[in-house]
Amino acid sequence: MFKASKTSSAHTHTHLHLHYDAVAQRKKGSPISNMHRPHAQFGQWAIRTGFYLLAAAAFVSSLSLLVLRYRTLEAEEAAWGAWKAAEGRDETIRLGNALGASSVADHGHDSDAIAKGENFKLWADQLLNTSVPVIMSKRTLRSKEVFSCGGSHVVKFKSYKDLRAITHLADVLPERDLLTTPGKPLHKKYKTCAVVGNSGSLLETQYGDAVDSHEVVIRFNAAKTEGYEQFVGYKTTFRILNSAELKVARDSGEAGITTLRNNDMKDWVKGIQSSPAGGPVALTTDPEFLCHTWAWVRNRGDKPSSGLVGIVMALRMCQKVDIYGFQYSNYFSRYSRPHYYDWERPKKGREKVHPFNREVSLYAQLAKQGYLKVW
Ligand SMILES: *[C@@H]1O[C@H](CO)[C@@H](O)[C@H](O)[C@H]1NC(C)=O
Repeated sequence: MFKASKTSSAHTHTHLHLHYDAVAQRKKGSPISNMHRPHAQFGQWAIRTGFYLLAAAAFVSSLSLLVLRYRTLEAEEAAWGAWKAAEGRDETIRLGNALGASSVADHGHDSDAIAKGENFKLWADQLLNTSVPVIMSKRTLRSKEVFSCGGSHVVKFKSYKDLRAITHLADVLPERDLLTTPGKPLHKKYKTCAVVGNSGSLLETQYGDAVDSHEVVIRFNAAKTEGYEQFVGYKTTFRILNSAELKVARDSGEAGITTLRNNDMKDWVKGIQSSPAGGPVALTTDPEFLCHTWAWVRNRGDKPSSGLVGIVMALRMCQKVDIYGFQYSNYFSRYSRPHYYDWERPKKGREKVHPFNREVSLYAQLAKQGYLKVW
């Protein structure tokens, strides 16, 4: 009863209000209809005003689109920064724990940094003092070992026994790993190595001559030198390939090193057997070397990137290591060139497949401790 009366009163009020507005409009409208100006002049005025209004609206909306775009880019940059900062903190905590030192947490910020550095050096030296071969050879194929990361995304095979099942694999492998010396893990075969990543930021520099002055130059996948010599140099000693289909150009003088982890190895063997003699040298990393590379990022991410494989390889065989073109922020930023030779972007979610953030902080720590130099 109460509800019904309230509704009806509200209705009455609305009705009255509308009636009042209509009367007001009629009164307001009357001066215009009474004007003595010709109708044509009013029409022109209305069109002009309408045009100005439209132009103003278009200007305002394009301006707001511009602001929106800028905000998006800003947000992307902020997210990248926050991600890196979070990684740094995580690293400190983990390294602190590895030290077994609650003392790390007890001390101030400075001693924290020092403890982190010393601990990192111990850890890195231990990783470098390893007998894990870099290149897969007939010698390691005979091994009874199982892979330390076998059955994962990094290496699908479980053991060397799985590899022996691949027909003719032994026929295409070298007798032994030529990049390391058995029994002498700390012996470095080469004096200087340049590892050249594919970052678009290389176009903002002129490292061509510096790269070519190295004894060994390592490049990756489809990296081009032709037309980019002033930025990346001419020379290529080893090309690291992440797929059995990628090939090194015949007569290029490069050796291709494929990072095979699964049955693609069968296609790789067939490819070598069907190619004419005297072609480029085709090698593959020892699966255990991929496990070893993954250990450098503490087995985070699905698998280490080809870039990290190349850098660890260089650390194992070179006395002095310089790395160029490893600026990943370019790779994931929308407003800079991802590769120096093309505009191909990583597929969405790719930054999760490879632990890029961890890799970047690893390179920074390696540089800080003098293991390599980041250019
Ligand atoms: C390297 O490791 C071996 C054991 O595998 C050890 O005897 C040797 O002292 C280590 N060398 C260095 C420099 O740490």
